[in-house]
Amino acid sequence: MNSQILVVDFGSQVTKLIARRVRENGVYCEIEPFQKVNEKFLKSRNFKGFILSGSPSSVDDRNFPKLKRKFFKKNVPILGICYGAQLITKILGGKVESCKKREFGLANLKKTKNSELIDSINFEKSNSKVWMSHSDSILKLPSDFESVASTDNSTNAIIQNKKSNIYGIQFHPEVTHTKKGKLILSNFLFKICSCTKDWDIKSLKNNLILDIKNKLKNNNVICALSGGVDSTVSASLISKAVGKNLKCFYVDTGLMRKNETLQLKELFKKYLDSKFKIINSSNLFFKNLKGITDPEKKRKIIGKTFIKIFEKYSQNQKSVKYLAQGTLYPDVIESVAIVGKKSLTIKSHHNVGGLPKKMNFKLIEPLRNLFKDEVRELGKELGLPHTIINRHPFPGPGLAIRVLGEVTKSRVKTLQEADYIFVEELKKNNLYHKIWQAFCVLLPVKTVGVMGDSRTYEQICILRAVTSTDGMTAETFKFDQDFLSKCANKIVNNVDGINRVCFDLTTKPPGTIEYE
Ligand code: XMP
Repeated sequence: MNSQILVVDFGSQVTKLIARRVRENGVYCEIEPFQKVNEKFLKSRNFKGFILSGSPSSVDDRNFPKLKRKFFKKNVPILGICYGAQLITKILGGKVESCKKREFGLANLKKTKNSELIDSINFEKSNSKVWMSHSDSILKLPSDFESVASTDNSTNAIIQNKKSNIYGIQFHPEVTHTKKGKLILSNFLFKICSCTKDWDIKSLKNNLILDIKNKLKNNNVICALSGGVDSTVSASLISKAVGKNLKCFYVDTGLMRKNETLQLKELFKKYLDSKFKIINSSNLFFKNLKGITDPEKKRKIIGKTFIKIFEKYSQNQKSVKYLAQGTLYPDVIESVAIVGKKSLTIKSHHNVGGLPKKMNFKLIEPLRNLFKDEVRELGKELGLPHTIINRHPFPGPGLAIRVLGEVTKSRVKTLQEADYIFVEELKKNNLYHKIWQAFCVLLPVKTVGVMGDSRTYEQICILRAVTSTDGMTAETFKFDQDFLSKCANKIVNNVDGINRVCFDLTTKPPGTIEYE
C-alpha cells in the first residue's frame, strides 16, 4: 500500500469510524493510541497524512493527552477532529475555552472562505448539517491559521494553515449525521494528502496470501475453527497460502445449533484444501456443566474446557509452529485509557480463541487489520458461500447461555428443535438477512397449558430477534404479528417440552442480546 493514513486516537467513542471512512475511500488506514505515536514509530512508517481523533478529555485538563510540538512540523498533512482541532490550537499557540453552552447535535455550517478541505462541496440547505459534540471551543487561532467555516455557536468550525497543511474541524465528519462528512474526508485524503486509491479487497486478498506464504514458509500451522465468519475466512486464506500445511480442528461441544456440526463438516470439506479434524467433546462439556446454573460460572467452565481440549490436542502437534486466529482489528485496537478507569465486565466473553496464555506456538492473525464488513467482503472474494459469510453471530459458549438454568442434553435438544423452526421460518420468509441475530431461549420455569384434552406443564421458549450494526446496541426487530403467531404455533405443536412461546421486546441497552 502506497497511501497510508494514521489516525491518532485520543479516546473518542467514534475513532474506529474515522478509520472506516478512510478505508471506504479506498485508502489504507491505521489507528494508534496517542501514547504510541513517538518519533521511533513514525520513522518506521511512511504515512501520507495524520488524523487526530476526538476525546472525552479537555485540553484544559492538567494532564491532557497530547503530542510533542515536533509532530506538527513534519510537513505531513494533519486533520484534527474536535479535540484534535483543539489540540492543534493549544499546541501551536492559540486559545481554547470552555463553551458557555455545550454544543451537541446538528448545526448548520456556513462557508466563509475557500479551502481545499471543503472544495466542490455545496453547503446549501440540508447539506450544511454537521454533527457537533463538544464543550470546549477554539477562541483564538494560532498564528498563520484562518477560519474557513462557522456555525451559529462556533466561529471557528473549520480552521486551516494552508502553508503547513494543518486543518482542524470542530464537528465530526466521520458520523453519518454530517451530510458532507465523507466528502470532506475525501478532500483531505486526495486533494491535501495526495493519496491514491489502492485499498481494495482483491489486492488485499492477494497481498495477504503472499504475506502468509512468506511468514509460514514450510512450517505447519493449526487453526481452531468455530464455523463463524472470522475463523473460516482466516482458515481459507491460510489454506490458499500453504494448503496441506494447515490443520484445522473444530471442537464439537454439543452446544451448537441443530445439524450445525454436520453442515460445517461438509462446508469445510468443500471449501478448505486442508486437513480437518472434529474433536467430539460433548460428553465432557455436559459433564463439566452438570448442576451449574450461574451464568458466569457456565461461561468460565466452558472457557476452561476449551482450553483443556486445546492443550491436549496441541501437545500432540509436535511439528506445528504456528497457531492461526481470526482476530479482527476492533479486538486489536487498544482502547486508550484517558481516565484510567477499566470498563465493567458485563459478561466474560470468549471465543474458541480463548486459548491458553502460555503456548509453544507463534501466532498468525491474518485478519488483524480488518473490520468485520471487510472480512465479509474478503470471504466473498475467496469464494466462500453466502451461508458462512452472512450467518448471524453465535456466541462462543453456544446454546449453554441460551438454556437458562441447568444445561442438560435433553434441554439443549429441546432448544435446538425450537431454534431450528424459528430460523427456518425466518429464512423461508426472507427475513433472516434483515436481522442481525435471531434465536430461541429456553427458560427454566414451567407453566400450565392444555393440549387436546390433557393438561401440560412444560417450559417457556422465548423468541429473540434484534437489529444492530455492531452488537453494542440493538433494537427489537418489528415482526408482523401473524408471523410470530405462526412460529409460536409451530414450536408448541412440534417440540416436546415447550408449551408456551413469548416474544422479547427488550432493546440493548438496557437488556443484552444474549440472556446470560
Ligand atoms: P450481548 O449479549 O453482550 O452480546 O449483548 C453482544 C454480541 O456478542 C455475542 N456474544 C458472544 N460472542 N463469545 C462470542 O464470540 C461470547 O462469549 C459471547 N457472548 C455474547 C452475542 O451473541 C451478540 O452478538
